[in-house]
Amino acid sequence: MTMARSIAAFSFALLAALALALLSVVQAQPIPDSQGFISIDCGASNKYTDHHGTGITYEIDEEFIDSGQNMQISTDYIYDEDRQLAKNLRSFPNGTRNYYRLKPDQGKNKTYLIRARFWYGDYDEKNQAPSFDLYIDVNYWTTVNSSHDIWKEIMYVPLEDDIQVCLVNTGNGVPFISALELRALDDDGIYRLRSGFLKLDERQDTGGTPNSTIRYPTDAYDRIWATENYPGWIILNTTSATDSSNDNDAYKAPSKVLRTAQSSIDANTSLYLQWTPSSFEEKWIVYFYFVEIERLTSSLQREFTVSMNDNQFMKTVTLEYLKPVVVVSNPVSGSLITFSIESTNKSGNPPILNAVEYYTIGYLPNVPTAQDDVKAINEIKATYHIKRESWQGDPCVPENYAWDGLDCSNGHPPRIISLKLSSSNLMGDIVSSLSHLSTMEYLDLSNNQLTGAIPETLAELPNLRFLNLSGNNLIGSVPEALKKRVEDKTLNMSLTGNVNLCQADPCPRKKKHNTILVPVVTSVSGFFLVLFGALAIIWLIKRKQRAESSGRTLRLKNRPFKYGEVSRITGNFGQVIGEGGFGKVYLGTLDNGTMVAVKVLSKSSKQGYKEFQAEAQLLMIVHHKNLVSLLGYCGDPKHMALIYEYMANGNLRQHLSGRMHPTKDHPKVLTWSKRLQIAVDAAQGLDYLHNGCKPPIIHRDLKTTNILLNEGFQAKIADFGLSRASATGNDSYVSTSLAGTPGYLDPEFQSFGILNRKSDVYSFGIILFELITGRPPIMRSQGGSASMHILGWLIPIVESGDIQRIMDPRLQGKFDINSAWKVVEIAMSCTRATARLPVDYVGRIILGWALSLYVIPFLGLFTF
Ligand SMILES: *[C@@H]1O[C@H](CO)[C@@H](O)[C@H](O)[C@H]1NC(C)=O
Ligand SMILES: *[C@@H]1O[C@H](CO)[C@@H](O)[C@H](O)[C@H]1NC(C)=O
Ligand SMILES: *[C@@H]1O[C@H](CO)[C@@H](O)[C@H](O)[C@H]1NC(C)=O
Ligand SMILES: *[C@@H]1O[C@H](CO)[C@@H](O)[C@H](O)[C@H]1NC(C)=O
Ligand SMILES: *[C@@H]1O[C@H](CO)[C@@H](O)[C@H](O)[C@H]1NC(C)=O
Ligand SMILES: *[C@@H]1O[C@H](CO)[C@@H](O)[C@H](O)[C@H]1NC(C)=O
Ligand SMILES: *[C@@H]1O[C@H](CO)[C@@H](O)[C@H](O)[C@H]1NC(C)=O
Ligand SMILES: *[C@@H]1O[C@H](CO)[C@@H](O)[C@H](O)[C@H]1NC(C)=O
Ligand SMILES: *[C@@H]1O[C@H](CO)[C@@H](O)[C@H](O)[C@H]1NC(C)=O
Repeated sequence: MTMARSIAAFSFALLAALALALLSVVQAQPIPDSQGFISIDCGASNKYTDHHGTGITYEIDEEFIDSGQNMQISTDYIYDEDRQLAKNLRSFPNGTRNYYRLKPDQGKNKTYLIRARFWYGDYDEKNQAPSFDLYIDVNYWTTVNSSHDIWKEIMYVPLEDDIQVCLVNTGNGVPFISALELRALDDDGIYRLRSGFLKLDERQDTGGTPNSTIRYPTDAYDRIWATENYPGWIILNTTSATDSSNDNDAYKAPSKVLRTAQSSIDANTSLYLQWTPSSFEEKWIVYFYFVEIERLTSSLQREFTVSMNDNQFMKTVTLEYLKPVVVVSNPVSGSLITFSIESTNKSGNPPILNAVEYYTIGYLPNVPTAQDDVKAINEIKATYHIKRESWQGDPCVPENYAWDGLDCSNGHPPRIISLKLSSSNLMGDIVSSLSHLSTMEYLDLSNNQLTGAIPETLAELPNLRFLNLSGNNLIGSVPEALKKRVEDKTLNMSLTGNVNLCQADPCPRKKKHNTILVPVVTSVSGFFLVLFGALAIIWLIKRKQRAESSGRTLRLKNRPFKYGEVSRITGNFGQVIGEGGFGKVYLGTLDNGTMVAVKVLSKSSKQGYKEFQAEAQLLMIVHHKNLVSLLGYCGDPKHMALIYEYMANGNLRQHLSGRMHPTKDHPKVLTWSKRLQIAVDAAQGLDYLHNGCKPPIIHRDLKTTNILLNEGFQAKIADFGLSRASATGNDSYVSTSLAGTPGYLDPEFQSFGILNRKSDVYSFGIILFELITGRPPIMRSQGGSASMHILGWLIPIVESGDIQRIMDPRLQGKFDINSAWKVVEIAMSCTRATARLPVDYVGRIILGWALSLYVIPFLGLFTF
């Protein structure tokens, strides 16, 4: 008896990998730590926790970037102090733009502090720090040009869920970065402009301990406050905690920062500062932090007026003991920026300043490309594995960094209007995402290795006026709608050099594979039925001999039941819970209280008897969490029965058709995430049958009524009555009896009577479509007179790019469109004609076919 996890198994990878893809859709992607932080030590080789006070864990950058290389700074610049973050960096010798993609859980339209750190440290031994630009999404942030350890910081509100930090090579050296940090601020109102973003100039803790900084965890948002003691100002401090319960204190400046301050020498003197901006246009915003930290002896409160640049901004503030007040200035500009804090006449106390932040405004003139276009072009890039240096970040914006081969309209937002991918080594079908570039005018896919048919949906691009598909390997006929556009002279189309493309009019009709259902009644299968009968007898004899010689019997592993016992546990066959081809299924209870399902073979079913035996055999050796387990077995020849684990929630079909009574825990409609989980469970069960069992087992009758759900809604595959172990080292198996259920049968099996793993994969694809649409595989018209196969109905809709229309209406739109697309794609590839499956897959199937036609290995089949 061989049953081992075969390592070099048949490439069921398609299904297994796709099942994993499903799982990853359900789970979130990169997980920032609990505080809403993403902390990346660029170029580091290991994740580590910073033990110098912050306790922040820094991740390596690989999952955030595709390009660049890890480098170490020169050992001359490595000091013992807190410089772990700066010891290594990532540099980008290739490509104009290199992107870090950050996906914070909080998503778009939230305020984020984003800080990038740069420490050149002569890592390239050129002793010449480069100069390069930094972009935030599609807009300019700053230029980095320093050989010192510096950081750049902004407060930014993204328009999209992911944030891209881009390093742009401007021709003045190789860009690099040492660290990248993102912190989500939990209050959205703060640090938010009506338009634009805030670029930090300085953040100062006035009056603090000299030469010290304060950051996380003292500052919940990990702002870094550096002590600044202005000469001539008085230093004040208190040990009392400031009142953080104050409703106005959304800024959460740390008490430790606010407890120290500077004031002027007396009430008649103001606090005054001025500085020169780098340009006259630069707009400055200053955040002033005030708290009264002195218990004033006089009855007068401290009151003062904050003003900037000749009253471009002015505000009077009255302080209460230990209550923080934050004053945010208007944007001010000028050849000199000034502020003064001056006591009012009634105050009698000098003005103070506890902390201050200076920002300039960054502008967001560039609007990103329309999101539908971005999604479509990224799908095209992924499908065809396009690797071009410029194909990173936004496709159209900034204009001078647009992807090569693309032209864009310069609207708001910009759209993709032309795509030139001639001679780009594209392989496979013409991907449907091309039809989602809805403003496209010019499409050149000439001189590639494209196969398959020309999708009709291309004709739905309203502005398309040029289409060059010449020099490919396309097949089928030219869609009528495209021909019509050419006749109408609204489209110039070139198709030369596609030898298998029918350009005649009309074309010889090509037979359709997927949609038409023919009942499987052929004389070939009749012949095999007889053959099987004979072989089964040989097998039974062989089995008996083996059992005798080895002293093992079927019952050795599972507890044998006597007929009387079976009768007792089912309460004299009292409650029928199901009825299959073999006979009835009864509910039973074992002596220990475990509920079981007892399948009893009806005596009338003669052929079924062998099937029943086969099922017992198989279930004996097959154990997997996604396969219904066999608990026991009654071998009395007159009363054969199988005792299975009881699956409390019935079968999947019942749930999809809404024939299940809702309970408190399980509402009437299966949610989308439950459906995904069921799909993954079924895929794992099937993968085990195909790849975990040796020889592999082909189920042959996979369908939604054979997928059972336990009380926790875990899905398990049932009913191996029609299963057969396929031959070792061979993927196909010629059918010996009529098996399977209409609607789930692979057209290949129907026409040739050939069974291989792919016929199960096909059935699995149909099950996925049932999960998506809620509809049965054979759909009946209202009156029940006409019927249609599910693929015939949905393929045209899917190809039109509108999957909303096929989704189960009972989901009421509650599903994730991306994962829905993913499942549709998986289901499509499972049900596609063999010729369109991936090459390695096809190769194995064709090999299997060829072998099965010559060497039908029946005898090998049952020599477990
Ligand atoms: C840069 O490009 C060169 C040549 O294409 C390649 O050999 C090298 O590995 C690339 N370096 C990085 C860091 O991508
Ligand atoms: C973004 O968030 C702000 C504040 O929470 C809210 O007022 C605004 O309506 C949001 N804008 C969008 C487009 O969701
Ligand atoms: C970078 O800074 C140095 C010194 O401040 C300056 O000489 C150089 O021109 C700058 N480079 C660029 C490209 O701005
Ligand atoms: C602070 O740093 C400056 C410059 O490094 C140094 O001159 C000064 O002595 C330091 N002050 C204290 C109190 O450490
Ligand atoms: C607080 O003030 C006292 C006296 O003014 C001074 O001795 C002490 O060093 C100050 N503490 C801090 C943290 O500045
Ligand atoms: C401020 O000036 C006024 C008049 O010039 C004077 O009366 C007052 O004593 C001064 N106050 C202080 C605290 O020096
Ligand atoms: C404050 O007092 C000064 C002189 O004492 C006077 O010139 C000024 O007008 C007063 N300001 C206000 C706002 O009352
Ligand atoms: C289509 O592409 C082929 C190959 O790139 C080229 O030779 C041909 O001129 C193009 N046709 C048109 C109409 O531009
Ligand atoms: C097709 O090509 C011809 C000749 O180059 C040109 O005159 C015509 O305008 C083109 N048609 C369209 C729809 O672009």
